[in-house]
Amino acid sequence: MIRVFGISGSLRKGSYNTALLRAAKELAPEGMQIEIYEGLGAIPPYNEDVREQGWPEPVRELRERIAAADALLVVTPEYNYSIPGVLKNAIDWASRPPNPPMAGKPAAIMGASGGNFGTARAQLHLRQIFTFLDVHPVNKPEVLVIRAQEKFDAEGRLVDEVTQQFVVDLLHALKEWTLRLKSEVAFS
Ligand code: FNR
Repeated sequence: MIRVFGISGSLRKGSYNTALLRAAKELAPEGMQIEIYEGLGAIPPYNEDVREQGWPEPVRELRERIAAADALLVVTPEYNYSIPGVLKNAIDWASRPPNPPMAGKPAAIMGASGGNFGTARAQLHLRQIFTFLDVHPVNKPEVLVIRAQEKFDAEGRLVDEVTQQFVVDLLHALKEWTLRLKSEVAFS
């Protein structure tokens, strides 16, 4: 069983990105289990002085859960052409030594926006951040959900079949990529 740790970068109750993550959990292929992180709002602002005194409890828990996962699924809104500050803040905490838990992990990225770019610019920023963290994202397919208000129903269920298929294809790609990286580690 591949354990995927899923993070949505939105704290909004009616978030399209969190709804997209919930859809991914339901659409996960056989042999993959997606757990949804709900602690993002409790992560304190990054402060190096605090880090030197020990991980705050929400950060310790986040790092432990990332470490326990085989892969990451990050679903990000686009804020001002980038990822939201709350998501970057959590990534910053997770990136710090010793033993940064994201290093070497396979990952997949998705995003939803109300406009016509579907978080394309935010996703590219996230890929740039992943480079420094040594996270290995799947490149294709790109899941860029445009005009999100047309793709989800009033209860936040993903009802657009084309988008569902993109999510399924991405999760299959993540599964194959994770298994490939695991087998290469096993043989190295
Ligand atoms: C936005 N939004 C936005 N949309 C976009 O396509 N490009 C952008 O650069 C921005 N910038 C931006 C900045 C800030 C501060 C906010 C609050 C919003 C709109 C954003 O994509 C939209 O609100 C999404 O619905 C947010 O995602 P959730 O909360 O629905 O997951």
